[in-house]
Amino acid sequence: MSNYHIKHLEEYFQVYRKSVRNPESYWEEIAEEHFMWHKRWDNVLSYDFEKPEFKWFEGAKLNITENCIDRHLRTRGDKTAILFEPNNPDEEAQHISYNELHERVAKMANVLKSQGVKKGDRVCIYLPMIPELAVSVLACARIGAIHSVVFAGFSSTALATRINDSDCKLVITSDGSFRGSKTIDLKGIVDEGLKKCDSVETVLVVNRINAEIEMKEGRDQWLQPLLEKAETTCAPEIMDAEDPLFILYTSGSTGTPKGMVHTTAGYMVYSAFTFKNVFQYREDDVYWCTADIGWITGHSYIVYGPLANGATTVMFEGVPSYPDYGRFWEIVEKHKVTQFYTAPTAIRALAKENLEHVEKYDLTSLKVLGTVGEPINEEAWHWYDENIGKKKCPIVDTWWQTETGGIMISPIPYSTPAIPTFATLPLPGIQPALMDEEGNEIKGNQVDGRLCIKFPWPSMARTIWGNHQRYKDTYFSAFKNMYFTGDGALRDSVGYYRITGRVDDVVIVSGHNLGTAPIEDAINEHPAVAESAIVGYPHEVKGNALYGYVILKETGESRNQDNLRKEINQLISDRIGPIAKLDKIQFTNGLPKTRSGKIMRRILRKIASNDTSNLGDTSTLLNPEVVQEVMDNVIK
Ligand code: PRX
Repeated sequence: MSNYHIKHLEEYFQVYRKSVRNPESYWEEIAEEHFMWHKRWDNVLSYDFEKPEFKWFEGAKLNITENCIDRHLRTRGDKTAILFEPNNPDEEAQHISYNELHERVAKMANVLKSQGVKKGDRVCIYLPMIPELAVSVLACARIGAIHSVVFAGFSSTALATRINDSDCKLVITSDGSFRGSKTIDLKGIVDEGLKKCDSVETVLVVNRINAEIEMKEGRDQWLQPLLEKAETTCAPEIMDAEDPLFILYTSGSTGTPKGMVHTTAGYMVYSAFTFKNVFQYREDDVYWCTADIGWITGHSYIVYGPLANGATTVMFEGVPSYPDYGRFWEIVEKHKVTQFYTAPTAIRALAKENLEHVEKYDLTSLKVLGTVGEPINEEAWHWYDENIGKKKCPIVDTWWQTETGGIMISPIPYSTPAIPTFATLPLPGIQPALMDEEGNEIKGNQVDGRLCIKFPWPSMARTIWGNHQRYKDTYFSAFKNMYFTGDGALRDSVGYYRITGRVDDVVIVSGHNLGTAPIEDAINEHPAVAESAIVGYPHEVKGNALYGYVILKETGESRNQDNLRKEINQLISDRIGPIAKLDKIQFTNGLPKTRSGKIMRRILRKIASNDTSNLGDTSTLLNPEVVQEVMDNVIK
């Protein structure tokens, strides 16, 4: 039996039992056999759910980039580590070998050092999906700087909030980015954002699109000349197991984005272990995850997990619709992709297009298909299974979160079954629990409840940057001695889990986590707006879309409502990013509220979803008459 690589169902059950009976010895064995350490740990795990505090492999010393790069050089130096597929199909793909990656990371690390970046400093990375993004992430890890990657679709305000929250002193960006047939002025967005940031001393700029941009004297520098002068080796900074590796921001249901802090050793062990098993990665496979490195999926399953296993990982710069809707499948054929990992929203969008876009290409290289980020509906699952996997590729519906660092509940191909819409079984070491609202665990099968995890796992986020209290309140206060996920789930008669969706005010739109409160804050900045409430409603392609109820200060007919809608969406785009725009905006005179003044979102959600046959308990409503008005004016 191998703890590290599970190959059939019996083995899964054996390994799972062992991992739960004795988690310390289970993870210790894996850590010992599959990674490179400068010093062994003194203690595998110590934890306290009250504080809350979790420490894995305490006392150990390592550098994650040695595990992701250096240790492969002897056996896989010439193997492709990163396979870069550019936005434009006519531009040649780049095969970056482990040897080359080693050199590029060293040079970038040396440039960072020459700019005064030291262990523990925060570096913000705001780049498109080009090799420099992965190289920058790894270069930070090489020298012990904490990377904070901000998805390059976020606005200048969102970028500034994130830079300020963690006091980044350096930003790595590019002159612009290619996105389908468009170019985007990334440097302009950075310049705008940095007007509000005092901590940033240096901006390093990659030349990606040859744009004429402004370079601020004393702050901005082109990266290429610095790289050319840089030394080609860089000794790794030796890190403690619990030293922070990165911060990654995720939306909460209220307040500013939460800077989730992931630490080094546990994150490395768990992302590598789950990559190997969930994708059943074998030495000559070509693995492709279509996510952006700006999200946790890209951190764990484009960069760290695959590279820690010496894999070939594809990085795609473009979009699935350019130059046409066959692009994903063209890339699969071209690079003989073996594992393909994407989001349900992409599957739904592609399923709407003509099947010719799929049938033109040879997809026989595929072995495993994956989905992540939101529940996948049955129809999309079957389309994926039949047309992409040709019913021969197991589909792994992987449930996890920015906070969990790695995949938590998922089938393991050829071991646990793949069932449409079910994430199925917990991975080794993961102990889920379903809880009722009173805080009791719901045992047995055929039940549903709030999904919690009742034992620590190595890659859990350790805190929220600068706000440990919020970490405690958000994840460890609802249920005693448990991590609360914010999701609801059901366990069927056999014990398989199906994730039913968020139980808080986070809405998942096209696989992106969006807190409703920050969007409401943006809308409320509009001078004509008195109050607003945002809810999600089901959407054919995006999974959920956003519906806004807006009360205006003056209800006169004088203002053109379409213009107002445009202005509101522009504000949201400026404050957060285009992904948070509302699909529907209803102007209303009132919102249903409880006697204590809380907006009853449950009712608004039902109205927006066109599901008003039973509005549930409305006895605590202060203003029942408003409900009828809202229903009468609903936007279909
Ligand atoms: O609601 C769950 C949903 O996405 C949330 C986490 O979002 P984020 O931190 O952005 O990470 C996304 C990528 C890991 C979860 O709380 N979610 C994620 N995967 C699934 C899912 N919902 C259903 N099924 C999934 N496979």
